[in-house]
Amino acid sequence: MNVAIIGTGYVGLVTGAVLSEIGHNVICLDINEEKITKLKKGVSPIYEPGLDEVLERNIAGNRLSFTTSAEEAFENAEVIFIAVGTPQGEDGAANLTHIKQAAKDIAMHINRDLIVVVKSTVPLGTNDLIEETIRTNAIGSFQIDVVSSPEFLREGHAINDTFHGDRIVIGSENEHAGSIIEALFIKLNIPFLHTNRRSAEMIKYAANAFLAVKISYINQISNLCEKVGADVNDVADGMGMDHRIGRAFLNAGLGYGGSCFPKDTEALAYLGRENEVSISLVDAAIQANKEQRILFVNRVLEHFNGNVEGKKIAVLGLAFKPNTDDMREAPSVDIIRTLSANGAEVHVIDPVVKETELLTEVAVTYSKTLEECVQNAEAVLLVTEWEEFVRADWEELLALTKNATIFDGRNVLHNHKLISQVV
Ligand code: UDX
Repeated sequence: MNVAIIGTGYVGLVTGAVLSEIGHNVICLDINEEKITKLKKGVSPIYEPGLDEVLERNIAGNRLSFTTSAEEAFENAEVIFIAVGTPQGEDGAANLTHIKQAAKDIAMHINRDLIVVVKSTVPLGTNDLIEETIRTNAIGSFQIDVVSSPEFLREGHAINDTFHGDRIVIGSENEHAGSIIEALFIKLNIPFLHTNRRSAEMIKYAANAFLAVKISYINQISNLCEKVGADVNDVADGMGMDHRIGRAFLNAGLGYGGSCFPKDTEALAYLGRENEVSISLVDAAIQANKEQRILFVNRVLEHFNGNVEGKKIAVLGLAFKPNTDDMREAPSVDIIRTLSANGAEVHVIDPVVKETELLTEVAVTYSKTLEECVQNAEAVLLVTEWEEFVRADWEELLALTKNATIFDGRNVLHNHKLISQVV
């Protein structure tokens, strides 16, 4: 099938790459010229393991191309995907500017019957609005069906998640359109769930918020474990062995960040308020998540009796989670800002994020090696659980420090039994 994709962020780019890999002709459209120039050369603008190879293979096979021209992108398209960003507005509601623009662009260029698939996470009823916008602005009379197919990929695992997802949700008001989208993805061999459009929109918010609640729950249990002498990892293992609960997303730590959970929980809470329905569990998860990073940094400050002035503190990890260069809502930023504001000499290292504009006004030193970062440090904070940090020789690292205490923000160093300085 001929497919066009609007938006080359994580979702759009990975969807395009995977659809071309299973044999479709895909053209990706983005307004950002710099991104498109890079992509035409096969260079991914994002760090995502495995993506470069898929891009390269399908560009070479002429199944995947890139453009900034809507005209070119839509010329032969039978299905158009919308995968543009829906950033969070001040009140928690999603900002639909890019979505509305995409709908208008489609309407302006449409010259045949068309199915539009919305991958972006959008508030309830947005797919109806998109369909209406395209239908009323289209020049000519065509059959236009908008299908909601929310995306569940995780950054850092995007390629694998798309090839081996748990389900593909197809929310459609027209059975025929739904069956065409099923055919488009059939080679992936992933179970399909057909629903109406609003249910599909809701599935995404409800699933993400559920996972966020799960994380905040285990974080609060973890805080309690610390006071009462229980080990949260063992508690999570014991809980997770109950198949009704499951072990996934029970890793206690600094809480969730990234582009989805913070934004989607806020959007769901907003939807609740708008409809005068209490979703207090989600409100509580949001609050607990905000507190979690503050509690962590307070523990560090308390360790130094509130005085970190001039003390070297090594922060391991900047990205919001391992295997990504994404800094959105990363706990590292708040932690570093607080430490620096208190006069600490903060040294940081991340395997992928070499510098971030989010810290331009903060005095931080970017280290090139782990050894350099921890040298003479009085505290070492593990903030992102990158494999190379977890597997590092902590005995050796500790020997370089000034008898530092290690603050394990991700509860991953418990197997390093020899380390007595982990808290
Ligand atoms: C998430 C959803 O998993 C995905 O389905 C959706 O499409 C987008 O949002 P992502 O944000 O890429 O994906 O990362 P994920 O691996 O889910 O982690 C989200 C956050 O939760 C990270 O900050 C991570 O550190 C945190 N987390 C995750 C925990 O604190 N504990 C856990 O047990 C799992």
